[in-house]
Amino acid sequence: MKVAFLASEVIPYAKTGGLADVAGALPKVLAGLGAEVRAFMPLYREVRKKKIPLTPVIERAELEMGGEKLAYAVFSHRADGVTVYFIDRPEYFDRDCLYGTAAGDYPDNGERFAFFSRASIETMRAMRYSPDIVHGHDWQSALVFAYLRYVYAGDAFFARTRTLFTIHNLAYQGLFDDELLDRIGLPASLFNMNELEFYGKVNALKAGILYATAVTTVSPRYSREIQTPAFGCGLDGLLRSRSAVLYGILNGVDYRDWNPATDHLIPRNYVPEDLTGKITCRKELAALFGLAAPTTLPVAGMVTRLAGQKGLDIVCEALQDLLGLGLTLVILGTGDQKIQDFLLEAQEKNPTRIGLKIAFDERIAHTIYAGSDIFLIPSRYEPCGLTQMYAMKYGTIPVVRATGGLDDSVQEFDPQVGNGNGFKFVEAEPEPLVEAAGRAGALFKKPIDWRKLVRNAMAADFSWERSASAYLDLYKKLAAS
Ligand code: ADP
Ligand code: GLC
Repeated sequence: MKVAFLASEVIPYAKTGGLADVAGALPKVLAGLGAEVRAFMPLYREVRKKKIPLTPVIERAELEMGGEKLAYAVFSHRADGVTVYFIDRPEYFDRDCLYGTAAGDYPDNGERFAFFSRASIETMRAMRYSPDIVHGHDWQSALVFAYLRYVYAGDAFFARTRTLFTIHNLAYQGLFDDELLDRIGLPASLFNMNELEFYGKVNALKAGILYATAVTTVSPRYSREIQTPAFGCGLDGLLRSRSAVLYGILNGVDYRDWNPATDHLIPRNYVPEDLTGKITCRKELAALFGLAAPTTLPVAGMVTRLAGQKGLDIVCEALQDLLGLGLTLVILGTGDQKIQDFLLEAQEKNPTRIGLKIAFDERIAHTIYAGSDIFLIPSRYEPCGLTQMYAMKYGTIPVVRATGGLDDSVQEFDPQVGNGNGFKFVEAEPEPLVEAAGRAGALFKKPIDWRKLVRNAMAADFSWERSASAYLDLYKKLAAS
């Protein structure tokens, strides 16, 4: 099974969120199951800065787009059975950020990621790598399906290739002016509502939903939610029309990177049978943020994009009541300026009760997973969510809104029976969040019950093997179709 895997971010090379974790881990597990996976991503400045030894694959090639010849090169790096190919065009990718700055998205994102998609296809041809499956992720890779359908349709090289599109987040669709199609070498006739047009704009994500042989999303519940108007972001009708080939496969965790027993980024390691290391991590976390953090009351962590999706506005509204419960809050995140300002002000007023760092920092993130007692995820929607799974492995109890992958991965703890691994609430409102955090706080005062809950959470197994087999089965089914 030969799989070409296109993603706009892949760990350890570049990351802004969960897509990178998935695109880094899944190919390796697939390779372990016998698939030959070659991954493609842009050569960003962030990758260059890491000084990873890259092997030149194509020194110079040209792609004609919009009447212009655009030069690029291709480099590769191989690790754990997977080769990653980097599309190098400095004009497009040698920039401070992946998608845009605090001031907004880069205005040429349409051209940038169309170029990435098309250059990836050309690289496959140049390497004589004829994939059984092209598996693209999110809008940044979705135009690959339009190219395969309309530009490479008669190309014998891809005659046997089947395609899979994975939606990690339906809300980010890649919307651009209609002139984009011409500039990126796609037929202008695709600008109609049955193809790529969406309320007067070109919608890159639609290319994935319409033209891929099958579509997946990252949890079973989200695959159902996106077919409803409430979660469909205007595309629920289109998704319903593809429901026969729309699947939900829950993401997994790479426990080589996320395991308190072996994690090099946390102050002290620990195992479920002996949590003394976790107590040290909690102390170090409190010291790092200058928090009082009394041991009788829980420390509540958050590691998150500060975006509407993640329900930060609900946290802001609930803040006084959460403090009223006696919680200590520790938040690490970047994003929305208004949310940052609100949290910074609250932190200044409550310096020993609220820890806040506006940054993207892997080490602090791991320390929060390890040093907190509970983990808040009040998302308005959540395609899968990885942070609840990471928190559980570190014995940190998730308090989540019952939506998408959060609902699929967290079960409310039942102290009577001793089942469950977290706390859930349904309405995206401050009060239910405070109530759920209150249930966690009350149980925290009962050490025997709490201990049982922590054990359950640490024993929950979200390793990739099961999900990777589901992808492999789907690849086989598509390849045979
Ligand atoms: P999303 O992809 O929607 O942001 P996920 O839960 O799938 O949400 O994944 C988020 C990933 O990004 C996790 O690996 C999390 O630890 C990481 N992350 C988010 N914000 C930060 C941050 N400020 N610093 C470090 N890691 C972060
Ligand atoms: C997206 C989603 C998140 C998911 C991640 C990886 O960023 O917001 O829920 O876990 O992709 O699939």
